[in-house]
Amino acid sequence: MTKNKNNQAIWNTRIQKDASNLFQKVGNSIDIDKRLYKEDIQGSIAHVEMLFRQKIISFKIKNKIIYGLNKIYKEITYKKFEFNKKYEDIHMNIEKRLFQIIGDEAGYIHTARSRNDQVITDFKIWIKTATKDINNNIDKVIKSTIKLAEKNVETIMPGFTHLKNAQAISFGHYLMAYVEMFTRDKKRFLNNLDNLDENPLGVAALSGTSFNIDRNFTSKKLGFKRPTNNSIDTVSDRDFVLDFLYAVSVCSMHISRIAEELIIWNSDGFNLINLSDKVVTGSSIMPQKKNPDLLEYLRGKTGVSYGNFFSMLTILKGLPLSYFKDLQDDKELVFNSNDTLVNCLKIFDEVLKNCSSNKKKMLELANTGHITATDLADYLVREHSMSFRKAYQKTAAIVNMAEKRKKNLSELTLNELKKIEPKLTEKVLEIFNLKSSINSKKSFGGTSFENIKKMITKYKKLK
Ligand code: ARG
Repeated sequence: MTKNKNNQAIWNTRIQKDASNLFQKVGNSIDIDKRLYKEDIQGSIAHVEMLFRQKIISFKIKNKIIYGLNKIYKEITYKKFEFNKKYEDIHMNIEKRLFQIIGDEAGYIHTARSRNDQVITDFKIWIKTATKDINNNIDKVIKSTIKLAEKNVETIMPGFTHLKNAQAISFGHYLMAYVEMFTRDKKRFLNNLDNLDENPLGVAALSGTSFNIDRNFTSKKLGFKRPTNNSIDTVSDRDFVLDFLYAVSVCSMHISRIAEELIIWNSDGFNLINLSDKVVTGSSIMPQKKNPDLLEYLRGKTGVSYGNFFSMLTILKGLPLSYFKDLQDDKELVFNSNDTLVNCLKIFDEVLKNCSSNKKKMLELANTGHITATDLADYLVREHSMSFRKAYQKTAAIVNMAEKRKKNLSELTLNELKKIEPKLTEKVLEIFNLKSSINSKKSFGGTSFENIKKMITKYKKLK
């Protein structure tokens, strides 16, 4: 018979020596997975309720176990619980304590289940809650981005390709591009929830169980859509972990992209945006400095998310079915990615609230680099019935001429323009106005002020 003396591992009948100190040190995961205690207890309660309904355990034993589990829940919540590394993980720590509280009848709890299904049940439930928290934080970032966009609908700046001035855009439009990205991030997280919504509990170690369990009951109790289909896949599957880590990586990457742009625009070379003193740091030697450290922090942390994602991919590569200890690292990676992202989202929200545009500088920069060249080519197509390619060549010649004469396109006289294209009239001079260039981009999704206002209204209504 298995002895359950409190200082011994559950398997001490079979394995008669304590694990070596070194193994005990590395093999346990309690410091990490104790974070799953709520979910573990929730899963255990659903499991014993099901065992009772299916007449596998008695009413009395079910109640005793639930009593013990609730007590443990309170002990952990109020930090009165002593976690022991010797019992490896949260599941064994709770089971061990259950023996102390209710005695040998605790031994019925593990009928028709294994830690292999327990751990992913807990983990899936945890990811569901974590996802909601992440999405709430993304919502806050979206709100702050929209707020900044609203203040900058009519702020003219150059849009870049290759970091070279390309065409005139509104800073508000640029910001709304990130609203699109963050909205997709939310969907990516929700898609994962949809996929992981199958209950692993009750597949036991890997092959199912001979007990007449009701996995639909536990699914319903624990808020899953249905039970998983294949017992072997269930305990081996960590796709939902990968999907979560991938979603975190993409969201971090979006934050990193905007962080990088804001860093560049905050540089003395560009000077397009201002950051308030709340979100910059000084230098230990250069008294004049105000550095965008927080943005750099955000850009850097993306490396952590990628690292966790690649670690998990690598752990799974070539791993045979079904459960192996290799899988135990999944939680550390997910907790770390989750905490890092939530932290970054909060920081980024703070940065957005402390960021403003330097409208004068933006406009100045937009007036360089001949950014209305495409507008001129379009004008030639429309007004003078040229093919776009022909209009493109004519415009390129006009740009060359402007460059030679050290002028902006808007500074060229009609006579100068006519040297390249004699059909041009006075009307062409309007084309070089940046505001009208922006407002001519009325196509759906374009940068015209009206379009941006409509998008802002649309997104505000979604909230
Ligand atoms: N702590 C383990 C983990 O996180 C739980 C599953 C243990 N199963 C086993 N057969 N050793 O993966």
